[in-house]
Amino acid sequence: MAVERTLSIVKPDAVAQNNIGEIYRRFEMAGLQIIAARMTHLTQAQAESFYAVHRDRPFFTALVNFMMSGPVMVQVLEGHDAIRKNREVMGATNPAEAAAGTIRHDLAETVDANAAHGSDSPETAREEIAFFFGEDDLHSRG
Ligand code: TYD
Repeated sequence: MAVERTLSIVKPDAVAQNNIGEIYRRFEMAGLQIIAARMTHLTQAQAESFYAVHRDRPFFTALVNFMMSGPVMVQVLEGHDAIRKNREVMGATNPAEAAAGTIRHDLAETVDANAAHGSDSPETAREEIAFFFGEDDLHSRG
């Protein structure tokens, strides 16, 4: 499997609960290197744009309001099979269905505040990384 990059977000609930370090530790333990990172507080326009694919879903307004409810950490993770690996470390979208030992199982309780985001495909990863970072912001260490 090739070395990939994926966009990760520590969501407002996890930042508010001081779980940034715990989540970063899990990435690094899984062999995912953090090659860019920034704390930001999304505007409504940014949150709507980032999740535009879900515009017509019933949970869209709640999702946008949640994502702009507090600061988030955005980071680029790099490693072998990084997109799948990050989603494995995060666990299922709904924490109630996430496997024990995953971020969402251990650190979140509800689907609408589920601690972390991770790109779901190479195409999405490219778009989402470019949403937050320029090429000069990425610091691959091989
Ligand atoms: P989705 O892209 O399906 O999941 P994932 O984050 O695991 O890739 O959904 C995006 C976010 O939308 C999800 O993390 C939480 C929110 N969401 C809800 O609030 N309710 C829902 O029923 C679903 C499917 C998602």
